[in-house]
Amino acid sequence: MKHFITIADLSRDEALEVLATAEHMAQTQSRSIRKLPTLVGTTVVNLFFEDSTRTRISFEAAAKRLSADVINFSAKGSSLSKGESLKDTALTLQAMGADAVVVRSGSSGAAHLLAHAGWIEQPIINAGDGAHEHPTQAMLDAFTMRRHLRPGDPTADLAGMHVVIVGDILHSRVARSNVLLLTLLGARVTLVAPPALVPVGASAWPCEISYDLDQALATGPDAVMMLRVQSERMVGGGFFPTVGEYSRRYGLSTARAATLPEHTLVMHPGPMNRGLEIAGAVADSPRSVIVEQVASGVFVRMAVLFHLLATDAREAPRDH
Ligand code: NCD
Repeated sequence: MKHFITIADLSRDEALEVLATAEHMAQTQSRSIRKLPTLVGTTVVNLFFEDSTRTRISFEAAAKRLSADVINFSAKGSSLSKGESLKDTALTLQAMGADAVVVRSGSSGAAHLLAHAGWIEQPIINAGDGAHEHPTQAMLDAFTMRRHLRPGDPTADLAGMHVVIVGDILHSRVARSNVLLLTLLGARVTLVAPPALVPVGASAWPCEISYDLDQALATGPDAVMMLRVQSERMVGGGFFPTVGEYSRRYGLSTARAATLPEHTLVMHPGPMNRGLEIAGAVADSPRSVIVEQVASGVFVRMAVLFHLLATDAREAPRDH
């Protein structure tokens, strides 16, 4: 693994290996001293062209727990055209001595471009590119699911599990990465959304598509993942009649959650629109693993950084 850009690059074994490392990282994080010396002397740059709270902080925490230095580069609002600014920024990062670059961008393909344009040689980690992919989010979701649905078996895949992903699929890189990873791990995935929020081409994805949330929930899924309605990407409107109507048809209300089997997990990548796609009481209920997803994010990102950087660091010890 040289970069971490799309789940499509991973084999089932590689995905399970990263999850196993994340499980190992999780163990280290319950010790009294949580900092590991693994990446001493390396520099991880967080290059964020888009606002982010939890993902950036999570990568920062992960890198710091492994003793890497972290530089946060917030490039939002650059007036340069995207291609130029990405190239110039890459050259700057290379010159600064970055050992890995974590990139988030509103443009689909930004991480791929950064990895393969030849401007920078270091490993690139995709922290979300447009509506394309968010592979570490999918890994942390799978990690969280496995802990609850396959308790005591940290080597298991998700065979036989049924996951329902609900909401703004059209703008969701989280949904895309999850469909790829969950099916790679053997789960069955059903996407539920109003027709206008299902991307053209989704019919070719390895999942089922439904427009009826109640019908999908009646199948008794093992996990229900609610997606944020990404209003900032809905310029011009017209994706659904009204917020109230969306919530009535596609929101996870207390009444809907009550119809689910006891073991069904409720998930959300955050940030949540409480009262729109998910009722506050459901987000805070015992079946919700939303806060745990955030904790899993640090373990999974530690694992990804480890796989991309630790071997290099060991082979070429630095003076320090
Ligand atoms: C997601 C993202 O940015 O793609 N959030 C996240 O990474 N925690 C989903 C979203 O913004 O709704």
